[in-house]
Amino acid sequence: MAQAKQDSDAANEFGYRRFKLGSFTFERDEYFVHVGWPGGNHMLAADAFLRAMMRDLAWSFFYGTVNFDQVFGTTNHYGNVDVFAGLYNPAYRKKNKHHVENFKTEDLKAMFEAMLDDWTNEGFDPFAAPEETGTAFGPKHGNNRAAITRKRLTARRMAGLKDDIPLRSDAAGNIVNRQLADVAQDQPELHAEPGFENEVHAFNFFGYVSRSDVTWNPSVCSAVKDSLICATTEEYMLPVIHGNDRVEWFVQLTDEIHWDVCDRDTGEPRARVVMKAGDVAAMPADIRHQGFSPKRSILLVWENNDAQLPELYAKGKLKPNPVDF
Ligand code: PHB
Ligand code: FE
Repeated sequence: MAQAKQDSDAANEFGYRRFKLGSFTFERDEYFVHVGWPGGNHMLAADAFLRAMMRDLAWSFFYGTVNFDQVFGTTNHYGNVDVFAGLYNPAYRKKNKHHVENFKTEDLKAMFEAMLDDWTNEGFDPFAAPEETGTAFGPKHGNNRAAITRKRLTARRMAGLKDDIPLRSDAAGNIVNRQLADVAQDQPELHAEPGFENEVHAFNFFGYVSRSDVTWNPSVCSAVKDSLICATTEEYMLPVIHGNDRVEWFVQLTDEIHWDVCDRDTGEPRARVVMKAGDVAAMPADIRHQGFSPKRSILLVWENNDAQLPELYAKGKLKPNPVDF
């Protein structure tokens, strides 16, 4: 297992720290992030890199693979994480130019957090839609710690229940998003039998999600064993290309998202899926996908958190698609 070690180098000429992660090197300038490894190097736009890094950290390396782009990314092995360049890119693979190193989750997390903290300028919010944030570019100026340390909301049972994550309100500072101003904000009436007040629960799901101030960040609204109902508001594009290690169900609740769906390992295109309000899709366990949302839309993501799933799919004991038509 490689060592994640922060370089003690002073800031570069643009004011940004350099980082060393095993034999990977990371540096940023005014517009770009430069990633190096023995035998190769790569550039990503700084705003795209920070948006992807924000999701990778917020989701604790997520399910399966988080591709920052066609070259660089991470694969979660739940306890340890691969950091790779070119691993899922056939051109790199063919010439044996890919590179991968494995790190302990907590070591990698600490290094990525330090990088995100140092490289995020004042006024840039990597969770926000481009229309709702300032620029990521330029020489280092200030920080945006408040934005990058937001906690991902995960309900233990269900949002709004006693001892669980609270519902959102104006009073709590969760204002309705500019593009979801027409979403009704009334709450359902609840009439629980005496003694069942903490067991019977309901809330206005659309109203709750319309008050999210982040994009492409599914938050767990209800959990029943391994069944996680995650809600998210989407605008512009998913900042990562997600390589699934299990099936994910999507329910498009408002507006529309266009998904590019490709083979998980090679990136070969498989489908374009246009999801309109009311559409349901099962994303197979052997794909990578990226969503594009022309205006802010509400998406329900249904995740199965069962830790045995990646192995069952990898060994072919489960079919990658849950339904045949
Ligand atoms: C996904 O990769 O399945 C995903 C990630 C973030 C979202 C929606 C879907 O907001
Ligand atoms: Fe996904």
